[in-house]
Amino acid sequence: MNYAQGMLKEGALKGKTILITGGGTGLGKSMGTYFSELGANLVITSRKLEVLQKTAEEIHAKTGNQVLPLECDVREYEQVEKVIEQSKKQFGQVDVLLNNAAGNFISPTERLSHRAFDTVVDIVLKGSYNFTLALGKSWIEHEHPGNVLSIVTTYAWTGSGYVVPSAAAKAGVLAMTRSLAVEWARYGIRCNAIAPGPFPTKGAWDRLLPGNLKEKFDPANKVPVGRVGEHQELANLAAYLVSDYSAYVNGEVITIDGGEWLKGAGEFNQLDQVPEELWDAMEMSRKGGAKIKMMWLYFRGMLKMKRK
Ligand code: HXC
Ligand code: NAP
Repeated sequence: MNYAQGMLKEGALKGKTILITGGGTGLGKSMGTYFSELGANLVITSRKLEVLQKTAEEIHAKTGNQVLPLECDVREYEQVEKVIEQSKKQFGQVDVLLNNAAGNFISPTERLSHRAFDTVVDIVLKGSYNFTLALGKSWIEHEHPGNVLSIVTTYAWTGSGYVVPSAAAKAGVLAMTRSLAVEWARYGIRCNAIAPGPFPTKGAWDRLLPGNLKEKFDPANKVPVGRVGEHQELANLAAYLVSDYSAYVNGEVITIDGGEWLKGAGEFNQLDQVPEELWDAMEMSRKGGAKIKMMWLYFRGMLKMKRK
């Protein structure tokens, strides 16, 4: 058994209809594929119908379960309502919402136009509250239990330069998650979030590591466990949170990043750059060892650190 394998019992999501925004590509597609393997019906939405149709066919061919592809811009409330209506027509009800659609790019903030800022915030925050509100109203009206899972990021609470619209919007999604977890629990609606670290996808890598940045900044270097995430690991966690096994988990955000954000936060964590020779030299100095040997070790250690 390992982290690249499915974790939940066969049929764990049977009978559930799960609506995934941005479900045609990347992590949305990976999570959807696993939900479908576990028996769920899927509704996948985004702006590109052709991409959705291809993904729907692929998933259906693999699992034999139903996948309904529906075009929808999450920023448009009328389109969101229409998707929910069509989903109910096909499956009777939607049981789970996965807020996964996002827009993002890197830029110094002062270079952004106000439209660029709007674009990212509208996709991430408005898109998430549009679907959450429309489905929440329907669940409450029909006394149907609901489950909302939102994909945020770890910079939802640390903030991050160069992706400021995304950071502000993801923080909003997290605040909505925690707020509604309390307010809507009385209606049988749970709200949780996942904060992934780096998981390679074309969408994210093309926009966050454009050009030769991919070679310059290997995201794995920032992760204490020394690697990026495997899609199945995220799919396992998401499947648990959308399943009834997690019925007592509400208002939580679960980080899955190999320890990445804490590495950036800890005051002395960069000392992992210090080579053994330098530690040796410092230890010798502390213990009053031979001066020349100590200086030599210190010099070699500094050289090594410079080269890193
Ligand atoms: C500065 C930019 C820009 C860029 C677009 N704009 N790209 N500004 N730098 N790289 C500006 C445009 O000039 C325009 O402003 C405004 O933003 C809208 O641009 P459009 O291209 O018209 O927008 P649209 O077609 O709606 O496309 C949205 C998009 C695009 C966000 C710009 O990248 C997209 O479709 N993204 C969807 C997928 C995605 O981003 N996936 C990655 C998620 S990764 P003006 O003023 O010129 O009109 C992620 C990971 C987080 O979230 C954590 C990682 C660890
Ligand atoms: P992705 O493949 O680019 O996924 C983004 C999806 O959002 C696309 O399918 C896109 O489809 C859809 N989308 C964008 N704008 C939309 C709109 N206006 N209306 C409807 N759908 C829209 O990137 P990803 O890496 O899988 O990202 C998935 C989620 O994980 C995002 O929430 C992202 O912030 C989060 N995340 C990713 C990472 C990572 O390392 N990959 C890390 C942390 C968090 P269309 O273009 O067809 O609309």
